[in-house]
Amino acid sequence: MRLRTKLTLTIAAASVVPVVTAALVGREVVERRSRADFGTQLAESAAEVEAQYGGLQRELRRRLRRLTTDPDDDQFLGPILIGQAQGRQDDATYRRLLDTTPQVMKERGLEVLTVISPRGKILASGHFPGRQGERNLALLRWWRGRGAKAVLRKERVLLGRKPETLLTLQARRVARSTDLGSKVHVMVIGGVTVGPALLGRLRQRLGQETKIRIQDAKGRQLAGGSSWEQYRRFPSTTVTLSGASESERIKVTLAISDDPLRHQLMEINVAAGALVAFGLVLSLVLGLVVGRRISRPLQEMAAGAEAVAQGDLEQRLPVRSRDELGELVKAFNEMTADLKHSKEQLVAAERVAAWREIARRIAHEIKNPLFPIQTSIETLRKVHQKQHPDFEEIFDESTSTILEEVQRLKTIATEFSQFARMPKPQLAPCPLQEVLASVRTLYQTEAIPVELDLAADLPVVTGDREQLIQVFSNLVKNAREALGGVTSPQITLHARALDAQWVEVGVSDNGPGFSEEVMAKIFTPYFTTKGAAGGSGLGLAIVHRIIMDHSGRIEARSDGEEGASFLVLLPRA
Ligand SMILES: Nc1ncnc2c1ncn2[C@@H]1O[C@H](COP(=O)(O)OP(=O)(O)OP(=O)(O)O)[C@@H](O)[C@H]1O
Ligand SMILES: [Mg+2]
Repeated sequence: MRLRTKLTLTIAAASVVPVVTAALVGREVVERRSRADFGTQLAESAAEVEAQYGGLQRELRRRLRRLTTDPDDDQFLGPILIGQAQGRQDDATYRRLLDTTPQVMKERGLEVLTVISPRGKILASGHFPGRQGERNLALLRWWRGRGAKAVLRKERVLLGRKPETLLTLQARRVARSTDLGSKVHVMVIGGVTVGPALLGRLRQRLGQETKIRIQDAKGRQLAGGSSWEQYRRFPSTTVTLSGASESERIKVTLAISDDPLRHQLMEINVAAGALVAFGLVLSLVLGLVVGRRISRPLQEMAAGAEAVAQGDLEQRLPVRSRDELGELVKAFNEMTADLKHSKEQLVAAERVAAWREIARRIAHEIKNPLFPIQTSIETLRKVHQKQHPDFEEIFDESTSTILEEVQRLKTIATEFSQFARMPKPQLAPCPLQEVLASVRTLYQTEAIPVELDLAADLPVVTGDREQLIQVFSNLVKNAREALGGVTSPQITLHARALDAQWVEVGVSDNGPGFSEEVMAKIFTPYFTTKGAAGGSGLGLAIVHRIIMDHSGRIEARSDGEEGASFLVLLPRA
């Protein structure tokens, strides 16, 4: 993965992760708080249901009390009590009650109104006038029962022409006459349909926010709860209010809309989404810009380092910033400069060392012939002083020795001056085919053939033609010298492009090769195994130096039986 991509991804992660985390945490906090709020709100509402139910019961009892407080004076109860005192109800009263009771019921805010005698006879019924005159033992039982609280009771009510059973909240109260004697009394039972009554009270207290549904024990709707399906997913609670029996119970379900919470969560999502998108775009831009700023100098540096590795010590990179990258580039430039300086120093030191070595060798080489010259001259002088009879003979011998040695001195001087005078190469594009062909022409003989094995697409190299001819001449000459006495000797010159940078030229022979010991010293000036009669040991030293001056490489190989080979690498033009 590229540095720029990595940077962009890192910045993207750095911008996205906190936003997502914050959004998740935010959602969690908001949701938890809201759920807790819903919990308390529902608990409070549930308490309100109980309170309103209690209120409804009290209200009902209050209404009954008002109706029964002064029954003798009441237009409705008064005639009933008189009828009770007389022991019978006259027909006129009976018929009047059929009409007036429903009216009284309405006036008093009641939906159930029954008056029964102490024997259980229904004297008046507002909600079901047809029952007037019936005996009702259940009501009588209730009267005799304990507790004065309003309770839930099922009641048959005549609505229009159809009787219907409603769940009502009913209370009872005795209406006792004061004028006719306290024995004259009736029981008045009043009630309201509990569903709508309770719903009305709860609506007032809890507002529109809280959805309310009131059902009976079997789950039948008593009030509220229209289109309840849509509130089913809301947080809710159910309060059960018990009645006179198991089946006379009501269930009040309360639900609070959590739409605001959903809205809030959605808003958090949208905001987080927008932030993430913005963060991604920003990090993409930042990643590209910063990545470019960082990776460009690094790429330049990588290219520069490559160039330095290939020997270009002139490499200098532009310093574009004052930060650590700028420092790095500066350090790189300083390092290259140092490297160049050290290399120059090293080269200078090597040169000095080489010259010392050469001077030492030359002194040694010169000393060798000087000794026979000196002794020859001394012999001549002695023989001359003593007028030796064989003077002529000795003179001839000595002077030819002297001339021989002087000739050797001359050769040494020539070779040395050649080596020393070696000029810097004039580098130019140079076709290797030509160089190798002319070397072959120079050294090929019938006895020792020189084979050329050149790649068809041999590239041009950078070099000095004359010096390269000298290099391959020296190598071929050495091979020829090594092949003396070898049956079917063979020298091969091969050349091919090694890679985009180098061309390889090899000179190999099938001679005796050389030992590892020789290999270690083979490029040292004046190292030779050819003895006094043979070479000066400068051949390969010159080769080495020329190749180095060409920024090339040279390597000697020999594995004994296969002969020797020299591999030269030259830079492509
Ligand atoms: N092709 C070869 N096979 C075996 N030995 C070799 C070969 N080329 C060089 N050598 C060894 O390397 C030594 C050094 O070679 P170099 O060319 O420097 O000197 P030289 O040939 O001895 O003398 P000069 O080249 O100065 O006449 C040789 O003396 C020889 O021992
Ligand atoms: Mg040689």
